[in-house]
Amino acid sequence: MSLSATPDTPLPGRRATLSERGGETPDVDIVDVTKRFGDITAVDAMRLSVARGAFYSFLGPSGCGKTTTLRMIAGFEQPTAGEIYLAGEPVAGVPPYQRNVNTVFQHYALFPHMNVAQNVGYGLRQRGTTKADEARRVGEALELVRLSGYERRRTWELSGGQQQRVALARALINQPTVLLLDEPLGALDLKLRKEMQLELKALQQEVGITFVYVTHDQEEALTMSDTIIVMHHGRIQQQGGPAELYERPVNRFVANFIGVSNPIDGKLVEHDPSTGRGVVQTDRGLRLTGLVTDPDARPAPGTEVIVAVRPERLQVEPATHAAPPADGWSSVEGRIHQGTYLGDHTEFRVATDIAGEMVARRQNAAGAAAIMGVGPGDPVVVRWEDSANLILVA
Ligand SMILES: Nc1ncnc2c1ncn2[C@@H]1O[C@H](COP(=O)(O)OP(=O)(O)OP(=O)(O)O)[C@@H](O)[C@H]1O
Ligand SMILES: [Mg+2]
Repeated sequence: MSLSATPDTPLPGRRATLSERGGETPDVDIVDVTKRFGDITAVDAMRLSVARGAFYSFLGPSGCGKTTTLRMIAGFEQPTAGEIYLAGEPVAGVPPYQRNVNTVFQHYALFPHMNVAQNVGYGLRQRGTTKADEARRVGEALELVRLSGYERRRTWELSGGQQQRVALARALINQPTVLLLDEPLGALDLKLRKEMQLELKALQQEVGITFVYVTHDQEEALTMSDTIIVMHHGRIQQQGGPAELYERPVNRFVANFIGVSNPIDGKLVEHDPSTGRGVVQTDRGLRLTGLVTDPDARPAPGTEVIVAVRPERLQVEPATHAAPPADGWSSVEGRIHQGTYLGDHTEFRVATDIAGEMVARRQNAAGAAAIMGVGPGDPVVVRWEDSANLILVA
């Protein structure tokens, strides 16, 4: 496949970028960017470098500033403060069509009076590419999105997923350095969305173009991304790989937004910043040892914190057969509130006096049998290892 991330002709008047001169320049550099609309701060002092060839996702709830960030990268909005660099060049004042980025939106906005091939080739015709060249590259782009043979189809004859693939092919054919995607799968049903997630990821790896993807769906972000940027109220909360965000969320927002966290309130007793190890006295009498996940935090003793524990780290045992207390483990007594069989795993909600309602997940493989007989109201013990305790300061 010959689609590559290199623009075929440099933009007029464009200076050689740092990377062309041999340095490793990020594709997108966002330096202290703030965007205000009247009283609303949509993006607040953002700092972010997007490395070449990777799959980035902005993840966050509605209104947190994802689309605004994308629109500033694309050039549809100007930052109120700060500077954006594309391939090392400041782009303030550079109009969208002169930026080497392309955007795919949730609503694919194909041209209804054109067939598939004409839609995909649109950008090339604007640049005066020859007919033969256009036909070849349209063929390549359609092959990439698995729509070979659909050239003459009308757009209204296509399914939602096929239309979105045409929109992708139309964006990729311009060979952007960066492809921006704003909830491109939002209009598709769940099954198709899951298929397209895997396809998009494979496509990104094949073409090697940097993808910057926007979603409010944590599972979608975890499935596709090399790096996830979690946003809230216009601010980056944390960025990292999927495992890092799930296993080491730095604050309550991230811990709750990605997965279930089983928060337990308490006060910090001690903290060793060199190892991150902390001890927490919880409001209802547990003493928990764990990791202060924010490497920059220097909380004083007495600071209010929460201890978060992921559901798969909790073991639920019938009170009559519970393992004896052990070093390096915590345990609380409770009663099963609800047990839900979910195929590969069972989810237990356990009401406890000391730690509130706790959600535990148990794989339905060997070992599940021990708890099969436990039902609502039955007394149980919930146990977990110290290594599961995530101490969140903010
Ligand atoms: N053109 C505009 N004028 C005024 N306010 C705006 C404008 N565009 C966005 N906003 C506001 O800026 C904030 C961020 O909006 P943005 O569209 O970036 O959110 P989002 O994270 O993309 O949300 P969603 O998941 O709902 O698409 C919101 O409070 C929104 O109302
Ligand atoms: Mg949006």
